Amino acid sequence: MNVLVTGGLGFIGSHTVIALHQAGYTPVIIDNLSNSSEAVLTQLSKITGHSFEFYRGCIGDDALMQQILTDHNIEGVFHFAALKAVGESTEQPLAYYRNNVSNTVAMLETMAKCGVERIVFSSSATVYGDPQYLPLDEKHPISSTNPYGWTKVMVERVLQDYCAANEKMLAIALRYFNPVGAHPSGELGESPKGIPNNLMPYIAQTAVGIREYLNIFGDDYDTHDGTGVRDYIHVQDLVSGHVAAFDVHVKDSGFHAYNLGTGQGYSVLDMVKAFSSSAQTEIAYKICPRRDGDVASNYADASKARQILNWHAKHDLKSMTDDTWRWQTNYPKGLE
Ligand code: NAD
Ligand code: UFG
Repeated sequence: MNVLVTGGLGFIGSHTVIALHQAGYTPVIIDNLSNSSEAVLTQLSKITGHSFEFYRGCIGDDALMQQILTDHNIEGVFHFAALKAVGESTEQPLAYYRNNVSNTVAMLETMAKCGVERIVFSSSATVYGDPQYLPLDEKHPISSTNPYGWTKVMVERVLQDYCAANEKMLAIALRYFNPVGAHPSGELGESPKGIPNNLMPYIAQTAVGIREYLNIFGDDYDTHDGTGVRDYIHVQDLVSGHVAAFDVHVKDSGFHAYNLGTGQGYSVLDMVKAFSSSAQTEIAYKICPRRDGDVASNYADASKARQILNWHAKHDLKSMTDDTWRWQTNYPKGLE
């Protein structure tokens, strides 16, 4: 089956392309390279021995999308393309609503014209807003604390309403917790542009000497060591969750939402310790004030995915930090 991967040269999309190929699907990629590099294509070929069809362009470009969907007989879309920086979204909300919401709606219209009735959407645990209870299950109320998060809430709403109006439509929203790690080959990983916002790439860049020290945002939270707790999930587990969700629901319709997390929370200091051990080096850090909008703890109840998709995360913290370190040492500046 031919499938389109939007944002397929980005961090999670590129790893998913490999997993889809290995599972017997034929993935075609569209990416506008706003947060990725065409060099990822070479890495995908290096890892799989296969060259993938790639289109450079925007998912909101109706003519280009019609051409791709029809020429390749696409039967499902894995939709990763989005802007994802929480802080930037508060400074440039319109860019986020335009790219993440308007372009997704435009893409759904193009899909409708071409008779493509399956979508797997990259949602986020951010749709749970400030947790009212832990662990977070899929029934937790939906909300957000920033424009990026609202774009995920809105697209989920669009997909629910669209499925309600179109009995053949299948939409699967996968709510990621904190994706980390890299491909075990060391040939593919996350290459954030500029200064990383997220913890794991910041630690990795500190360990390799690009950053002098890590700023730890708060050590006075109500957690086991005072630093923030999150549910880090290896990108390889995340992508196997996509394949499992698509396989299980491929003949279904309707809207389905799943948490993709491990259910296990680790603190910032736990992550520093685990990374130090993988990199065999001390990681310098400074304790700073809390970051606006951060919560103390956030972790998943991933039992719905386990029960219905027969999926659970298999990679432990050591493999998350070992794989990130391998990638970071092979490509200290990412792919250029
Ligand atoms: P990423 O930035 O590495 O990948 C996104 C890709 O989409 C990039 O290659 C970018 O160039 C491309 N893109 C953006 N807008 C586009 C457009 N209009 N048309 C075509 N291509 C476009 O991000 P990622 O970490 O791989 O995230 C993938 C998805 O998962 C995003 O939707 C993100 O919001 C979601 N998500 C990520 C995280 C995380 O922490 N990484 C957590 C939860 C959810
Ligand atoms: N942290 C630091 N220093 C840093 C970066 C992060 O101490 O330099 C801390 C944060 O305060 C937090 C933890 O590390 O306690 C994780 O922070 P991240 O920025 O890596 O991740 P978040 O949990 O804040 O957010 C991530 C994604 C969002 C997504 C959310 C879903 O960035 O896009 O997970 O749970 F919405």
